[in-house]
Amino acid sequence: MSHATTTNTLRAGMVGMGMIFDETYRPFFEHTHANGLFDRRFGYVDVPLTAVASRTGSRADKYQAQAANRIAPFQSFRGDDSVEKLLRSGVEFACVATPDDRHFDAAKQVLSAGVHLLIEKPSVLSLVQLDELQALARQHNVLAKVVYHKLLDPDHKKLRTLVADNVLSHVNNGYASLLEPKSIGMGQFSEWVTGRNPGTYVAVHYIKLIDFTFGGRLKTVTATGQRGLVGPKDGSTWDSCQMRMIYEYDSGREAAFDIHTSWVTPDNFPGYVEQEVQFRFDNGVWNAHSRKRGVELTVEGETPLKRKTTINNHYNGTFLEPWGERSQRGYGIEVLDRFVREVAHVEFDGPAGDRNSRLATVRGLTYNDLAADRQTVAAVQALEAILDHQHRGQPDCVVRVNDPAGGLVLYRPGSNEPSVLYGPRL
Ligand SMILES: NC(=O)c1ccc[n+]([C@@H]2O[C@H](COP(=O)([O-])OP(=O)(O)OC[C@H]3O[C@@H](n4cnc5c(N)ncnc54)[C@H](O)[C@@H]3O)[C@@H](O)[C@H]2O)c1
Repeated sequence: MSHATTTNTLRAGMVGMGMIFDETYRPFFEHTHANGLFDRRFGYVDVPLTAVASRTGSRADKYQAQAANRIAPFQSFRGDDSVEKLLRSGVEFACVATPDDRHFDAAKQVLSAGVHLLIEKPSVLSLVQLDELQALARQHNVLAKVVYHKLLDPDHKKLRTLVADNVLSHVNNGYASLLEPKSIGMGQFSEWVTGRNPGTYVAVHYIKLIDFTFGGRLKTVTATGQRGLVGPKDGSTWDSCQMRMIYEYDSGREAAFDIHTSWVTPDNFPGYVEQEVQFRFDNGVWNAHSRKRGVELTVEGETPLKRKTTINNHYNGTFLEPWGERSQRGYGIEVLDRFVREVAHVEFDGPAGDRNSRLATVRGLTYNDLAADRQTVAAVQALEAILDHQHRGQPDCVVRVNDPAGGLVLYRPGSNEPSVLYGPRL
């Protein structure tokens, strides 16, 4: 039988209808609404967005009204039990794109309903939460995956290829800087920004890049941050933060990485979301800068506020294709397409009796599986704990991984009493 003649369906649910839905999920679902998804191994798959859940439903209603025939009608659930209702409506996979401290509850419900899960970065904020989600995914025989689209950036793929092929050997140290404008920290995210920091939200892209590209064991995390713009100078809401991670490799040698983030850069800063990294190896240096990737655009009266000066056409751009078609494409959308293909592979790519072996294969993909997100979640949990102690008058704490006292252990200067953030070894 030819797989190509069958049509299967994967109904999708979306939890959270904010900025990232509009940027990446919307174009993905519109594209599959028009074209479906095809692979000769599993044939044609329809991927309708059938249900969405959000706090107020207002953006979902607006989108439904404006989208016309770009998307099929979907059910919109709002309020406290919106995720439960979405799951009861019947979906095969659900994407969670709520603010990062609200991922866990929604993700737990999705997996408990036996539905495949895709969750925005950072997956969750603690290792205990990660353990619970991993256990639920195993119990219900479904996938639990996280979106780190920067791993699909062609530049980062090249970096990893050079490392994997040992053209670049042993990373010694490096830095990454991500600067977002005030319109993000003080405008767009004002509903949930209280008590939050820009590190968890954006540094995590580079924590994952470092973890995935160079491997190794995370040993130590230190961090600090500044306040006074988004919230009070002694409060729990952070304008900017800086963290350092120390890794150790099988050779016994170490590397240190500094990651600086801010969401209070002036709105007219030409970089908009400015990203810069440098990694230094035994035999080389990798320098990457979002502003130097190639394009600086000036349009009178439009850049840099209405239109970005430094446009990342690789992440997600709207294009007039050479053949006349309008499109929206890039690695931010490709990463979602890839996940749905992984679900389709599990469900449709061979006899039902072999589903478990296909599931195991897809779970083995460490770029997006929750099981491979442990060190990234540990770094995020450490960052949050250190900032929390700083806010409570105990700055300069250090978190050690797989310490004699536990898996993730916080030490305060001047105190012999370790605080165990996570007991088991990572
Ligand atoms: N991949 C990226 O580069 C990227 C970029 C931006 C955001 N994100 C991630 O996407 C997630 C969402 O960010 P955003 O910028 O879209 O946020 P946003 O504030 O624009 O939107 C959040 C959405 O979640 C909904 N929501 C909030 N609480 C909810 C709940 N309890 N149940 C159901 N819905 C709820 C809100 O109604 C809203 O629709 C975050 O985890 C963020 O880190 C990723």
